[in-house]
Amino acid sequence: MSLTTTAKDAKSASARPILFLDYSRSEAWEADLHSLAEANFRTHYCRDLGEARHILAQHDIAVGVLKIVGQPAPEQLSEIELLSDLPTSMRFVAVVDSDTAQCPALANLAKIGTVYDFHTIPVPSGNLIFSLGQLFGVTGLVSSAAIDEPVLDEPYMVGTSPAISSVYRAIRKFSEVDVPVLITGESGTGKELVARAIHERSAYKDGPFVAINCAGLPETLIHAELFGHEKGAFTGAHRRNIGRLESAMGGTCFLDEIGDLPLDLQGNLLRFLQEGTIVRVGGSQEIGVRARVIAATNVDLVQARKKHRFRDDLYYRLNVLKIHLPPLRERGDDIELVAKFFLFKFSKELKIPIKGFREGALKSMRRHDWAGNIRELISAVRRAVVIAESQWISAADLGFVEASRVVEGKLPTLSQARIELEAKLVREALDRAGRSVQLAATELGISRVHLYRLMQKHMIGAYQPVEDVDFIQSTG
Ligand SMILES: Nc1ncnc2c1ncn2[C@@H]1O[C@H](COP(=O)(O)OP(=O)(O)O)[C@@H](O)[C@H]1O
Ligand SMILES: [Mg+2]
Repeated sequence: MSLTTTAKDAKSASARPILFLDYSRSEAWEADLHSLAEANFRTHYCRDLGEARHILAQHDIAVGVLKIVGQPAPEQLSEIELLSDLPTSMRFVAVVDSDTAQCPALANLAKIGTVYDFHTIPVPSGNLIFSLGQLFGVTGLVSSAAIDEPVLDEPYMVGTSPAISSVYRAIRKFSEVDVPVLITGESGTGKELVARAIHERSAYKDGPFVAINCAGLPETLIHAELFGHEKGAFTGAHRRNIGRLESAMGGTCFLDEIGDLPLDLQGNLLRFLQEGTIVRVGGSQEIGVRARVIAATNVDLVQARKKHRFRDDLYYRLNVLKIHLPPLRERGDDIELVAKFFLFKFSKELKIPIKGFREGALKSMRRHDWAGNIRELISAVRRAVVIAESQWISAADLGFVEASRVVEGKLPTLSQARIELEAKLVREALDRAGRSVQLAATELGISRVHLYRLMQKHMIGAYQPVEDVDFIQSTG
């Protein structure tokens, strides 16, 4: 079989070029090519990724047909995942059967836009041609009009899960009424972000947003920090000082980790909530402070009350309007949305071109329990963008080790895991590329020099530098 079969009977020089990547078991490709030629497409036919790359290096092609009929072989499946690594503008219309339509790698390609449309066999040729025509139109639009990336407001909340949608509704409702709000949830779930969102929509939005971490203040200073002090109130109080609550005047005072506020101060805080007044340490005058109060906690205040560590009256005062932020692991697809949002953001900010996550990375993220919630996810993505050596983020880049290692009992350190994975990937890529360093480097998304360095590092030396051999022909 010739490798790049160009349909000879395309009607004119204006025929539109397409790549036809065929992973199907059947040999029924000639009929496909014929009907495509009839519709004035010039078809470049191939049966694996290596050939596809070869064709794309020689022809300016942005539209393809991806045919997967019959269960693909394992090596074909891993190739399918790599299709998104072809030139960015390359997009496919997929032709599948009812089994292969369920293939997760394919679903992922559809999600990230590499697969534009699906058809299940038998496909009337008119339908395929219609989709291809559409894709040509869309691709033309995309490349001619530079896409303006959306400008996002900070702080920005990402997520569409039912859990987070009800949080959005609460933010909108609660921002309109001047009543304390209590936000609960594990650390890193977005409590402060929600508090800021309420502030920005409230009547206090032109005033300051003052975040006070009740757990972060040294116990001896906390009273004066919160309420301020008069000159001479204690040794070292050389002048009057305005406290954090007073500085929130006209704005919002966000009391974070309220569960850690010492009991004696809870009484003072209650007075502030009830009367809207404070008294500075060492002073006697009541000062009116008009500020919206939002409190947050990651400890169970009900338990704290039972153990007499939290005053009942303060609890009732604060717990009028409540927002609970679910942990990230309960937010389903939000994990992926948030990860992609930050991937895009960091890639842009750090000027490191990244295209997306590999399927393995997405899988690992879905499996991970994210004890540190969104904060942990953000830092994992930021680190991955910095350390990734390919434009596609892998599970290893995110700091995940393979499941098999975990079962063995002892976890390897992150750097051990990375080194092992790196060596494994290099070996695999070389095997798959028939030991061609050039092709393996392309597949890994790194330069040939870089790959040689990695081979040296991992002592993968027993290779024959066969890249002079025409690899493409040898696979025909
Ligand atoms: N829904 C969300 N979408 C995007 N970023 C979020 C979201 N929720 C939280 N974040 C970000 O995650 C980090 C932790 O959020 P934060 O509000 O400080 O959590 P908490 O106060 O619950 O510990 C912050 O950088 C915040 O901007
Ligand atoms: Mg916080």
